[in-house]
Amino acid sequence: MTIDAPAAPRSADPRSFLFVLGSSRPGGNTEILARAAAEALPPGTAQQWVDLAGLALPDFQDGRHEAGERIGGDAEDLLRDATLAATDVVLASPLYWYTLSAHTKRYLDYWSGWLGEDGLDFKARMAGCTLWGVTAMADREHAAADGLVTTLTHSAAYLGMRFGGVLFGSGSKPGDVRRDTDALARARTFLAGEAPLARFSYERVPMGV
Ligand SMILES: Cc1cc2nc3c(=O)[nH]c(=O)nc-3n(C[C@H](O)[C@H](O)[C@H](O)COP(=O)(O)O)c2cc1C
Repeated sequence: MTIDAPAAPRSADPRSFLFVLGSSRPGGNTEILARAAAEALPPGTAQQWVDLAGLALPDFQDGRHEAGERIGGDAEDLLRDATLAATDVVLASPLYWYTLSAHTKRYLDYWSGWLGEDGLDFKARMAGCTLWGVTAMADREHAAADGLVTTLTHSAAYLGMRFGGVLFGSGSKPGDVRRDTDALARARTFLAGEAPLARFSYERVPMGV
């Protein structure tokens, strides 16, 4: 199933989470880790799940500077509406070639189209929302995912969003991440963590200055 309905009943938590699954296979390590993090949310917190591999979303085509038809169809509408309805967007992408999976990157490319869509106010509406990342990878060194972290940090900064960081887990075949007990322990508190306003890396003030 591509979309899970929002959890009911609503809790006092005013947040509404969109979990975007970006693996090319179902039930993989990234989804396991993302679901572990979601389980720790206050009961009843609104959440919607989208599996990008189950959506017929064509490659993004840059039509920002010309008039023309949008090509994303129903899948694009669904993703745009779900994105704008969320206070918190959790990108759950496996590490592919040291960065986001193609499914996840394609979804982010659509953000550029929405930024230019008349009357949508995408940037203003995303500002103040929070971006989170969850990733599984074969490597045990989290630094191997620095490229993915930079992509998410800068994307959040560009949109004036908060950034809650990236939850890492290690594993190769589906289910391996269940043996990464540190990752599962971190998942229990991840979405309750601090999410400061995102900054581009070149904006960070050096210590002692
Ligand atoms: C196309 C592709 C590229 C990958 N690139 C990396 C990589 O750069 N670094 C790494 O540690 N693991 C890499 N892996 C391994 C996956 O990150 C790992 O199997 C992960 O658990 C997959 O997550 P999933 O089960 O949610 O799909 C790659 C796997 C695939 C299929």
